[in-house]
Amino acid sequence: MAEVIIVESREAAGALVADAIVRLVRGNPEAVLGLATGSTPLPVYEALRARVGELDLSKVRGFALDEYVGIDPRHPESYRSVITREVVEPLGLDPRRVRVPDGSLDGIEHHGSDYEEAIGEAGGIDLQILGIGTDGHIGFNEPGSSFASITRVKTLTQQTRDDNARFFDSVDDVPMHCITQGLGTILRARHLVLLAFGEGKAAAVAGAVEGPVTASLPGSAIQLHPRASVVVDEAAASRLRFAEYYRYTYDNKPDWQVL
Ligand code: GLP
Repeated sequence: MAEVIIVESREAAGALVADAIVRLVRGNPEAVLGLATGSTPLPVYEALRARVGELDLSKVRGFALDEYVGIDPRHPESYRSVITREVVEPLGLDPRRVRVPDGSLDGIEHHGSDYEEAIGEAGGIDLQILGIGTDGHIGFNEPGSSFASITRVKTLTQQTRDDNARFFDSVDDVPMHCITQGLGTILRARHLVLLAFGEGKAAAVAGAVEGPVTASLPGSAIQLHPRASVVVDEAAASRLRFAEYYRYTYDNKPDWQVL
């Protein structure tokens, strides 16, 4: 099962995951990162930003998880814009090495397979950052997504559109469709790091970590992965049945065994 780490704050989570990324990039300056959008990964990017002086990230390659379909890439809430603003520019990544699924309608039927090919050519993703939706989605893999799925177009649930309405003027402006790495794509990454904060994520986290492995809760796919880390605050951990055991395990973790 996943290693569950319960931390005091978002900042502590960000620092912990940033440490893992720093170690990865020191070992391989051309490491391939799977980049997530949404509010959850922001503390990771902020913690990494504080470390750019000690680390050259210019050769790192990145693949975003998902994008809205039909959105103008220059729209401030397109994931292309978010990744540029929150990750590429502050961390000094080379924009030519960072891809976001192409959500433009022209040729949309090929954009998923092109993306899969690009990930394959880069040698696969070393560390995939993940958030989780309140309905248990990861990337934009809504309930019912196949565990074997690859990058493709999906329809967003009303719940996800409502959740994401805060980034737009109104819920009607939230696109109906998206293009997302599949659960199969995500499961091929070599290390999964899922973060979640706040009470609103507690049920999704409990389902993903301890619930049955089911397409009805796509985040539960992480239970099939040999190296998955889940970093949550107390509120997001509040419905975990074995929280005490996770704390005990982490408190007694050998020094040599890092995230
Ligand atoms: C969005 C993204 C997901 C993200 C999720 C949670 O729909 N496509 O990748 O994990 O919502 O968002 P947040 O981190 O803002 O709660």
